[in-house]
Amino acid sequence: MAFHHHRRHRYLELDENGDTNNDNHHNHVPNKKPEVSSLISDAELRSEFAHNDQTVARINNGSFGSCPASIIAAQHQWQLRFLRQPDAFYYNDLKPSILRTRTVIKDLINADDVDEISIVDNATTAVAIVLQQTSRAFFEGKFRKGDAAVMLHYAYGAVKKSIEAYVSRAGGHVIEVKMPFPVNSNDEIITEFRKALERGKSKGRKVRLAVIDHITSMPSVVIPVKELVKICRDEGVDQIFVDAAHAIGAIKVDMKDIGADFYTSNLHKWFFCPPSVAFLYCRKSDKQPDLHHPVVSHEYGNGLAMESAWIGTRDYSAQLVVPEVMEFVNRFEGGIDGIRKRNHDKVVEMGEMLVKSWGTNLGSTPDMCSSMVMVGMPACLGISSDSDALNLRTHLRDCFGVEVPIYYRAPKEGEVNPITGYARISHQVYNRIDDYHKFRDAVNNLVNDGLTWDAVNNLVNDIVHISRIETL
Ligand SMILES: Cc1ncc(COP(=O)(O)O)c(C=O)c1O
Repeated sequence: MAFHHHRRHRYLELDENGDTNNDNHHNHVPNKKPEVSSLISDAELRSEFAHNDQTVARINNGSFGSCPASIIAAQHQWQLRFLRQPDAFYYNDLKPSILRTRTVIKDLINADDVDEISIVDNATTAVAIVLQQTSRAFFEGKFRKGDAAVMLHYAYGAVKKSIEAYVSRAGGHVIEVKMPFPVNSNDEIITEFRKALERGKSKGRKVRLAVIDHITSMPSVVIPVKELVKICRDEGVDQIFVDAAHAIGAIKVDMKDIGADFYTSNLHKWFFCPPSVAFLYCRKSDKQPDLHHPVVSHEYGNGLAMESAWIGTRDYSAQLVVPEVMEFVNRFEGGIDGIRKRNHDKVVEMGEMLVKSWGTNLGSTPDMCSSMVMVGMPACLGISSDSDALNLRTHLRDCFGVEVPIYYRAPKEGEVNPITGYARISHQVYNRIDDYHKFRDAVNNLVNDGLTWDAVNNLVNDIVHISRIETL
């Protein structure tokens, strides 16, 4: 079994169940299906999220996620356990507890081996781990200057910067997959992906890396990763990395089914963990990729999972509550699968309600949505730049108590009355229909007032808002 391997490292304290001998209630991995009687009640659900700002319609779970009160309390207990006797915690508890988290994740994502799972702070860190390895391969001559890396045009901004820092600067040639939006079928994405791979392979180049989002951030669309991974394999791409920052808790995630080399998902977005915790899955292979945590500490050279389990003195508590989060999600009918299915159905229903009211359209077909949907906003708002979109978001927050990100889509040539603004709405267990009604009415208010976005810009373009645009 998986733990045997770890006994060679530092897990001598674990018994056959992966438990330490310490008496504490954190030592079991609760992945049972819930008893019907233990399902969370409406009142309990409200109290779990009572710390959410009740004056705001939070329909943007996607950006930062949400953490229920019982998990915040559990996290605090872990913090106290450390602070009470840090040395004992460090020597006896920390690594076995991180191993428990890794084991929960391994089962959740259907990985082969717990050694494939490393716990890191966030998707950004996971990206750095994978891309630093790519960078070293260029510098050490394993890859030739000009070899290609392929990424989606809608890759997350910070990930694009990482590719610039670690791949372009090392001599890699970066190719962007053009992405249609609005998008009506997986085939539209697959066709563009094939074209980009062809460009990647032209002039005798090798495609060394494909970075593929599972759910793009902005605009948000579920990408047919399984199909794209297969195409990469058929075309001889060396390594395939899926950036699935939004995936766990929002869509089905199965490592054996997807078949990528590397896959990362945050647990703080859609899996109720406190900020911040993510996993990086690295498929076992004979090639043994040269992966290291960017923060080097005592465990350097002992494998990525070990390196990541100690990156110096800090608060590891967010990584340790994952078993408690599993208990939390199992208080809902169908566990995390039930939650994500209901979120998906509800967010599509809310998206359809909004486009009906505004006379617009969704940004993709419902089957290409997760727990987030892109909702076209009335063209008469006249959103005509990224900063217009950001100003509108600020205005909705400040004047209407609605938190929702807005995407600016440049119109195509010759388009009549184009929809240039799309709101990305999320649905999580704490959301109520009223949240979306509040958003609908706010936008209808702006439209009825005949306020074009130009006029609102003039209203809000004071120094405060300018500084926000620059810092967000
Ligand atoms: C696709 C994608 N990749 C990476 C990230 C970065 O996640 P984090 O800020 O938690 O590192 C995000 C965050 O929204 C994202 O949407």
